[in-house]
Amino acid sequence: MAAMACSMGTTVAPRAMVALESTTSSLANYRVSFVGPISRRSALVAFGAGNGSSRVTMAAAGAAAPKNKGGKKEIDESLLTPRFYTTDFDEMEQLFNVEINKNLNEAEFESLLAEFKADYNQTHFVRNPEFKSAADNIQGPLRQIFIEFLERSCTAEFSGFLLYKELGRRLKKTNPVVAEIFTLMSRDEARHAGFLNKGLSDFNLSLDLGFLTKTRKYTFFKPQFIFYATYLSEKIGYWRYITIFRHLKQNPEYQCYPIFKYFENWCQDENRHGDFFSALMKAQPQFLNDWKAKLWARFFCLSVYVTMYLNDVQRTSFYEGIGLNTRDFDMHVIVETNRTTARIFPAVLDVENPEFQQRLDKLVVLNQQLIDVGKSNAPAALKALQRVPAILGFVNELLALYLMKPVDSGSVDLVESEPQMVY
Ligand SMILES: [Fe+2]
Ligand SMILES: [Fe+2]
Repeated sequence: MAAMACSMGTTVAPRAMVALESTTSSLANYRVSFVGPISRRSALVAFGAGNGSSRVTMAAAGAAAPKNKGGKKEIDESLLTPRFYTTDFDEMEQLFNVEINKNLNEAEFESLLAEFKADYNQTHFVRNPEFKSAADNIQGPLRQIFIEFLERSCTAEFSGFLLYKELGRRLKKTNPVVAEIFTLMSRDEARHAGFLNKGLSDFNLSLDLGFLTKTRKYTFFKPQFIFYATYLSEKIGYWRYITIFRHLKQNPEYQCYPIFKYFENWCQDENRHGDFFSALMKAQPQFLNDWKAKLWARFFCLSVYVTMYLNDVQRTSFYEGIGLNTRDFDMHVIVETNRTTARIFPAVLDVENPEFQQRLDKLVVLNQQLIDVGKSNAPAALKALQRVPAILGFVNELLALYLMKPVDSGSVDLVESEPQMVY
């Protein structure tokens, strides 16, 4: 999933925390947040902001990274680093109670459950010796950016794992079918995160998921917002993976690390997860069929797209390292995700209007100004003053993007008659 930052919602004290029991891993969809500069130093946690630091354990001597006394690498997080989420589980129970909600299409959920039980990727995530030797060949600045990619992805997957696992647990009595699907999705995310964490071991590192679970601050989103954010995260994750996979298939000279070869089947997991959230939203038409839903749908689209764009432009060397043009890649992912999202969301942004990317690029410039101010040695008060014009400009661009003429889309009826998306 992708994290929406501070601006998008009130971060309230969680009513029910996601259980902290497991340290198994998972990959995620792209959770994002905006507001304030997106810093390259915010290496961890693909789903949101938070305080507290995350850490990477040095698995072998000689790994190049600053260490503290305990041999751990501490990583600073900015306001924009990805987050972990929690929700109102009591409300979730109400929403999925078949006695209360007559919109729940039990036959559809049964058929989705059969898909998840089939577990098409059960034997897909098997490593081979290519990984380690490929990692050894990645040197220079690309090495650090590669590590960051693995860390962020692993943490984002893990974030999905925690949320889905708890939803599976909490909905067991109310709606066993929906609960089991959540549990099976947490299985997928655990598998994804575990695979990424093994990738980190090729770089003599390991993400301390237990530490992360215990120390991260969890952001509370009402169920309605969890649905929007998670749907977008899954679908944007799908489009990111499949786009990278197809690109590297056509340009094998850039295939510098074997993890990308797994993306084709992997992204099908994310696609299934997104389709499940689509079915969940159809069962809650009140989240799709009024003017407030349209405003929220646009807001979540904007948050996810802007955060991804700003984050990725900060990491251009990663995308260039695998032969992609970062901005072109991002716009392709945004356009495709938006087209997919238009099948279910009641309104989406007009991302295919050239003005959309022009404004994104203005945000990139303003974000860089904020980062530069942050890095300067000026006194704190002066820095605060220096930030004002950039923040005002940033807010102005965000508003202009949000207020661009939207595209009316989605229809519960229309979605029901559409075939499943295949790529
Ligand atoms: Fe995943
Ligand atoms: Fe997923």
